[in-house]
Amino acid sequence: MIAYASRTGNVRYIVSRLQLPAFEIEENRSFTDPYLLFTYTDGIGEVPSKVKRFLEQNGNYCRGVIVSGNSNFGHQVFGAAGDAIAAELQIPLIRKVDMRGFSDDYTAIQDFYEQCFGKERVG
Ligand SMILES: Cc1cc2nc3c(=O)[nH]c(=O)nc-3n(C[C@H](O)[C@H](O)[C@H](O)COP(=O)(O)O)c2cc1C
Repeated sequence: MIAYASRTGNVRYIVSRLQLPAFEIEENRSFTDPYLLFTYTDGIGEVPSKVKRFLEQNGNYCRGVIVSGNSNFGHQVFGAAGDAIAAELQIPLIRKVDMRGFSDDYTAIQDFYEQCFGKERVG
């Protein structure tokens, strides 16, 4: 399963292309199975607050993080939400995607997903 957060639609678009089981993070949804997290980057290299709250509740089950950012923000903070989450939870940063990314990003995410959970496609 992929748990994702998307504000302006880039992450949502990528998730829709991946054909993998996914749900959008909502307040107070708790999760008791392993999942991969896919988030955008907010502020100046920050983890979106709804993602922070979700991880406070469900961080234990997170097996890896994918992040979307905008490389125009500069190398220091590009996709930095992903670096912060990977360091905090000590999980792999699977991929840093620039905006909606490219097909090699999608393949890398799908490959990691398969390593974690086996072949499981929807749609
Ligand atoms: C207010 C704001 C702050 C942002 N800060 C960063 C940032 O520090 N680093 C970065 O890489 N991208 C930053 N971004 C870009 C978004 O993370 C990027 O566009 C991402 O693809 C958005 O995903 P979404 O469309 O699923 O919400 C920011 C975007 C906004 C609107």
